Amino acid sequence: MKTLFDFFRGPFSQKGALPFAPAPHMVQSAMRALESGAPEETVLACLLHDVGFALHAPDHGYWGAQLVAPYVSGKVSWAIRHHQALRFYPDPEVGYEYPESYRKIFGPDYVPEPYIEQAYREARRHRWYMEARLITLHDEYSFDPSAPLALEQFEDIVGRHFRQPREGLGEDGSAVAHMWRTIAHPNRPL
Ligand SMILES: [Fe+2]
Ligand SMILES: [Fe+2]
Repeated sequence: MKTLFDFFRGPFSQKGALPFAPAPHMVQSAMRALESGAPEETVLACLLHDVGFALHAPDHGYWGAQLVAPYVSGKVSWAIRHHQALRFYPDPEVGYEYPESYRKIFGPDYVPEPYIEQAYREARRHRWYMEARLITLHDEYSFDPSAPLALEQFEDIVGRHFRQPREGLGEDGSAVAHMWRTIAHPNRPL
């Protein structure tokens, strides 16, 4: 029976072909949210915001939102989906600036894809805008990848807001179970 934290200690801690392992990055982002006094669901959204990376780097916000949708509120999965687009757009009102790392990755004159621009516009006028924006604000890119995974502090929040399936993630017959299985067993031949 695999729990969410089993995935954090296992596959989410693998870097593989990614620029970083998602687990330490997500834990540190969630710690920042917790320290800022953010609501529990915001902390959870930060803790889960990059799970999509465990499947695919491109469109990781969309993959991540889909992975957790059966187990979290609509607000949390919506925020995870939209943080990907919001990362490209500053919001001086909350102190979010365009990431320096993006200038290096995408080049100085990069213009996001039209679907990203569209997603940003939709998010901007949505009542849950701040949920996705807070993920980008707490997104920690200067994190220490070797820091111990301090998951215990999130046990209660996960217990209250993540509907862990009794059979375990990947075994519950949900519409996304196969995606969790792929993450758990990336090298199966079929
Ligand atoms: Fe992200
Ligand atoms: Fe992130």
